[in-house]
Amino acid sequence: MNLDRLGDYSVSMALPSYDLPKTNRQVQLVRRPQGVPLADDFALSTQAVPVPGKGEILIRNLLLSVDPAQRGWASAEANYASPVALGSPMRALAIGVVVESHDEAYQAGDCLYGFFGWQDYALTTPDQIVLKLHHALPLDAQLALFGISGITAYLALTLCGRPLAGETLVVSTAAGSVGSFVGQLGKSMGCHTIGLTGSDEKVARCLERYGYDQAVNYKTAELEATLKALAPQGVDVYFDNTGGSILDTVLRQMKIAGRIVQCGTASVGSWTPAPTGPRNEREIMTRRLTWSGFIVLDHRARYAQAADDMARMALEGSLVYDTHILQGLEQAPQALSLLYGGGNHGKLMIAL
Ligand SMILES: NC(=O)c1ccc[n+]([C@@H]2O[C@H](COP(=O)([O-])OP(=O)(O)OC[C@H]3O[C@@H](n4cnc5c(N)ncnc54)[C@H](OP(=O)(O)O)[C@@H]3O)[C@@H](O)[C@H]2O)c1
Repeated sequence: MNLDRLGDYSVSMALPSYDLPKTNRQVQLVRRPQGVPLADDFALSTQAVPVPGKGEILIRNLLLSVDPAQRGWASAEANYASPVALGSPMRALAIGVVVESHDEAYQAGDCLYGFFGWQDYALTTPDQIVLKLHHALPLDAQLALFGISGITAYLALTLCGRPLAGETLVVSTAAGSVGSFVGQLGKSMGCHTIGLTGSDEKVARCLERYGYDQAVNYKTAELEATLKALAPQGVDVYFDNTGGSILDTVLRQMKIAGRIVQCGTASVGSWTPAPTGPRNEREIMTRRLTWSGFIVLDHRARYAQAADDMARMALEGSLVYDTHILQGLEQAPQALSLLYGGGNHGKLMIAL
């Protein structure tokens, strides 16, 4: 939906008409993925609709998020979160509406965002709820802006990147859901923004829609020479979503006292065994770089303020978002392959 048409929206108006199915379909993880999760790693299962007990809340899911982080959650590799148990519904963020609540903080009809899984219904507890939605924005906008992507872009850039007006900010996966927000937020802070992305069509979108000053197709450009030409004084902040050879190249263009935000590693196929590459420690030392790792789940206390700020900018028209909506739960098993293949155009999600 176009944000220009939002004037008289309220969150209750944003709720689509929805049904309450008599069974609960789940997309369960049935096999540990080798690398990017494939459709065969999941199976559709039908269960009875759960009945909430004391302190529990029954949610009807409406929009399921598809996030790169799910690859890590599905894998048994050492991770920052416990792996999803085989035979369980795939862990996922989602927006849903409360059907029945046995917690006084939540009422039937409330629209919530949280860890509700790839399923029709979630039986949940308050610790799994991330936000109660109240902004006058369509639900897909809310999943893009306040979902893991928007909040990550906002918090990782402001807490770790700390860009100043006039600085050069380079962003990888620049046309993706995190990257598109990082580019726009960096521009609004007065940075010179350079986006790296994987196709000419995405380059055009970076320039025309997300306001990047420059954008580069890293698959066809000679990246080192191109960066030298676009940022002859060097790069102040590199917001890295890919790792791998793109990081190795940008690292060697960093200015003294530059900051690297390690937000993602989309280009690394597997961490077992640990991949090898150029040794980078001398670059870090001689350039006096600060290299910060960021995990959005560490910052839950800041989500509501970040969401309010992102909503304000979206409603003012200074932040655009794009969503790529798949229809139906049966699309979930192959959605992560689509995402990692670069086939999404905006925040990837599944409407139920
Ligand atoms: N640390 C955190 O808390 C946190 C939270 C959210 C997301 N993230 C990270 O942020 C990054 C972006 O997430 P998103 O949701 O916005 O996804 P996205 O950018 O919409 O989609 C993933 C993109 O990764 C790129 N990609 C895939 N394989 C690649 C490869 N081999 N080399 C280089 N690029 C590759 C593709 O873009 P191109 O076509 O441009 O190559 C693809 O579209 C991910 O790495 C994710 O893990 C981190």
